[in-house]
Formats: sequence, structure tokens, C-alpha cells
Amino acid sequence: MFLGWKHSHEPSNDSELVKHLKGIIKFRGGPITLAEYMEEVLTNPKAGFYINRDVFGAEGDFITSPEVSQMFGEMVGVWVMCLWEQMGKPTNVNLVELGPGRGTLLADLLRGASKFKNFTESLHIHMVECSPALRTIQYQKLKCFDRDESSKDMGSDAVSALAGTPVSWHSTLDEVPTGVPTIILAHEFYDALPVHQFQRASRGWCEKLVDVDENSSFHYVLSPRPTPATLYLMKRCKWANNDDLAKLDHVEVCPKAIDLTQTIAERISSDGGGALIIDYGLNGLVSDSLQAIRKHKFVNIFDNPGTADLSAYVDFPAIRHSAEEVSDEVAVHGPITQSQFLGLLGINFRVEALLENCTDEQAEPLQSGYWRLVGDGEAPFWEGPDEQTPIGMGTRYLVMAIVNKNQGVPAPFQ
Ligand SMILES: C[S@@+](CC[C@H](N)C(=O)[O-])C[C@H]1O[C@@H](n2cnc3c(N)ncnc32)[C@H](O)[C@@H]1O
Repeated sequence: MFLGWKHSHEPSNDSELVKHLKGIIKFRGGPITLAEYMEEVLTNPKAGFYINRDVFGAEGDFITSPEVSQMFGEMVGVWVMCLWEQMGKPTNVNLVELGPGRGTLLADLLRGASKFKNFTESLHIHMVECSPALRTIQYQKLKCFDRDESSKDMGSDAVSALAGTPVSWHSTLDEVPTGVPTIILAHEFYDALPVHQFQRASRGWCEKLVDVDENSSFHYVLSPRPTPATLYLMKRCKWANNDDLAKLDHVEVCPKAIDLTQTIAERISSDGGGALIIDYGLNGLVSDSLQAIRKHKFVNIFDNPGTADLSAYVDFPAIRHSAEEVSDEVAVHGPITQSQFLGLLGINFRVEALLENCTDEQAEPLQSGYWRLVGDGEAPFWEGPDEQTPIGMGTRYLVMAIVNKNQGVPAPFQ
């Protein structure tokens, strides 16, 4: 429900989303959690950041690996095909992407795999996407056409002309049909899931909440007593090393990441298959990582909400423990760095093959894209770095796989 600020008679320049957020706080008679704030800002059905526009690329707010180079989707395709072989080449597979953005990863994957007919003919693609605007872009990117009425019984919304593959859209993973071996891709999806933040205070861990001050601006307050998310904090602390915890004055927990991982693990254990999770994050507890990015620059998270991306580091050990907690049938591998993952799958050979058959003009973006995908985030990888110079994604992004144990260890985690 989209609440207005109906009872106020004060003039205000607030956006609809800000009015809505203040309306919730006023209606509730108190502050909201940071997770509620983040969820509204990103996915409010009327004015959420992702809902009405294309936010990617040089003209947008940020860039992601599939948008950097076609090689990213191609290498993920190599991973998916290797897993499909380990699964015994089933003739019917659900290939699910969570949060597919512009659809570029799957478009490059299907183009790269189009010669392997047995593989592409086995696929039914399922896009889990909340944004109507991005669904339209995905439809175009996958070169989809609508099924005619006579073939609607095959249960898909459309067919991708890239490999003749059926494609369906859903709002959540729970809507994707079960009972079929499933491969799930989550690239920069977990980082968009809402986090709760706790701060160490003299009375113990207190949840950081969002309130409105006397100047009508958003600000943080600390919860006076334990909140429902405290249960997740306790769970996370149980998985943590005490020395690591003692060093932190903030801890972030992401209940939606824990719940989603458990859904994924249950599905993989009953239907077979695997999941690949790629995101920026840590192989340890996450402290206060929540950040806002607008037009490629960091901004305050309360600055004009809905016009900047909010994201938080992914807590990879929490994903591992969540998966292992619900099923003995799944194995969790990694995380390894994106640079290791792409290198071990052979991105060097791919870039060399592409460079052999391209013009000088095409070579430059191929080389810079390659370095951006595998380069070190700390060290600039070409001369003359300045504010505009993009930094490498090779070590800041981590890769984790969850697979059904019967299939053995997936490439390239052996
Ligand atoms: C950071 S973008 C990543 C896009 C793409 N995977 C890429 O790497 O280019 C996050 C994507 O997840 C979608 N998304 C975010 N929260 C979602 C939710 N709760 N349910 C479904 N989709 C969501 C966004 O609309 C967007 O497509």
C-alpha cells in the first residue's frame, strides 16, 4: 500500500517515496528498521529505485560485470554447462536467474552456448525480477517473442530467439515450479536484499532504526529493547568466532539472505542442480557496509531516497551456514575470488580467441573489460588512474556454489 502524508497541512518538497516512508513512521508511532527502509527505497512498487528505470551502465548509476564484457556471461555459461554434465545431462532443466538486471548475462550465456543444442534444448529460463521496467528490457535483450495461443500450454510466457528457449518471469523464487532439476544464478542479487544493522552500546547490541527528526529529516536512533531481528543477530553470532565479533562495533544481518539460501538449498537437495552466487562481500562477519551510489558516486543513504542504489556487502559464511543448516544433501564450495573463478574456467583463452578475430577498435574494450573483470580492486591496473578510472572487480567480488552432493564437486572448485 502506498500511503500518502494525508494528515499534514505543511507544504513539503518531499518526493512521493519520502512522504510514504515518513507516513509509515508516523502511522507506526515510531522508527522503522533499516531493512524496511532499504526494501521500500529499492523495491517500493510505485517509486522504488529499481522499479521504473534502467539504472545500469555509464549513463546509469553503476555498472555490473555482465555489462563490462560479454566474456562474463560466457564464462558463467561454461560453469552452467559443466554442472549440467555433472547432473547427467537432464533433458529438462530450470535455469533461474535472480535479479537479471538488463538480461545481459543470460543473453551472452545463450549466445555462447547456442552450438550445444542438447544443452540449450533442455533449458526453461525463469527470470525472478521485481521491476516491470527491467522485465521489458530483459524481454528485448533475450530477443523474446510471445508464444502463440496454441502453444501456451507449454507453460512459458515467451521464447528467446537466441536459442529457442522458453522464458518465464516471476516475482519470487517460490513462484518457479519445483520438481525439475534446477540451476540458479544470483549475480549482484544478494547485495540488494535488506539488511538490519546492530550497534554495540553499553546495554549490549542495539538495532539501528530510522526515525524522522524535528527538521523532518531521516536520522538513526537505537532501539531501546531487543527487536525481532535480534533473533537473527543471535543466530549469526553463534556462527561467528568470538575474537572476530569482539573487534566489531557494528554487525549487519540479512534475514532475507538466510531465508532465500534455505529455499535454494531445499530445492537443490530435492530436485538436484546447483546455485552460483557472485557478489561483493566478505568471507566473514559484515560490520557497517550499507552504501548508496548515484551516478557512480557514493552519497548519503538518506539523500533523496529512491534515486540512488542501496547495497550491502554479502556475508558469505552466513550463506554457507544457512544452506548447511537445512540440508545434508547439499555441499557449499567457496567463496573464491571472481578472478580465480574466471581464470580457472579459462577466461584467458577466451580473450585471446576473441582478440585474434577482431579489429583494433574492438580490441581495446575487450582488453579493458578483461582487466576490469579479473583486476585487483586495490591496485590500479593501468597507468594514469584518475577519478574516472574504473577499479578491478577481480578480488572484491566473491563466488560461492551450492550443489547437490550426488553430483560431485563443481568446476572450478575442485
Ligand atoms: C544490482 S542489480 C543486478 C542486476 C544483474 N544481475 C547484473 O549483474 O547486471 C539487482 C537486480 O535485482 C532485482 N531485484 C532487487 N531486489 C529484488 C527483489 N526483492 N525481488 C526481485 N528482484 C529484485 C533488481 O530489479 C535488479 O534486476
